[in-house]
Amino acid sequence: MDDTTTGQEYWDARYGEHDHLWSGEPNAVLVREVTGLEPGNALDLGCGEGADAIWLARHGWRVTAADISRVALDRAAHHAATAGVADRVDFQRHDLAASFPEGTYDLVCTAFLHSPGEDMPRAAILRAAADAVAPGGILLIAGHAGPPPWDPDAHPHAHLPTADEVLASLRLPDGAWDVLLSGEHERLQTAPDGRAMTRTDNLLKIRRRRT
Ligand SMILES: C[S@@+](CC[C@H](N)C(=O)[O-])C[C@H]1O[C@@H](n2cnc3c(N)ncnc32)[C@H](O)[C@@H]1O
Repeated sequence: MDDTTTGQEYWDARYGEHDHLWSGEPNAVLVREVTGLEPGNALDLGCGEGADAIWLARHGWRVTAADISRVALDRAAHHAATAGVADRVDFQRHDLAASFPEGTYDLVCTAFLHSPGEDMPRAAILRAAADAVAPGGILLIAGHAGPPPWDPDAHPHAHLPTADEVLASLRLPDGAWDVLLSGEHERLQTAPDGRAMTRTDNLLKIRRRRT
């Protein structure tokens, strides 16, 4: 990504190069951490091709799902229609650095909201994500703890924070949130050449107190 390419141009081109960029399966940490929660309304930030949003909709949530890429959103909407949940997911295009979905939500989740350029203010976006959590609601942030082992230069400009660094960057008021989970975990991924490789991710799960 060079200095003149916008985030939308980068991601539209990246999605446009492939029929699908991701597996089509929901993120395992989302499934694990949301299973058992009472469904309500949910916001998925950086939804990509929509697998997490569609899984949530299939499990009773009303979902707003946002991404910067029109190509990804069109694909996600097609997948939602195929899955029979188009009426339960509102896909919205936002450059989250500039605009943010309205409302408050019982669940705000974001999985791997990373971008190779320097222009995505991830910490500010995650603070807006925390602001969008309703009383009693959950904020779930999954991120990469480092570059993929097959491409150490994949995130040349981005700092990939630990879960505790993400928590600190949210600048949450004392006594208003409970930390349910904060830490790193390993995940098996398939490299482009087909090799199975281990990657380290982090996960933060916090709940806003009712008062
Ligand atoms: C690594 S992908 C993750 C996609 C999806 N959450 C998943 O787990 O498969 C990062 C996503 O963030 C989106 N994104 C990057 N910068 C963004 C921004 N400024 N505003 C909204 N979405 C953005 C990209 O288009 C991409 O879909």
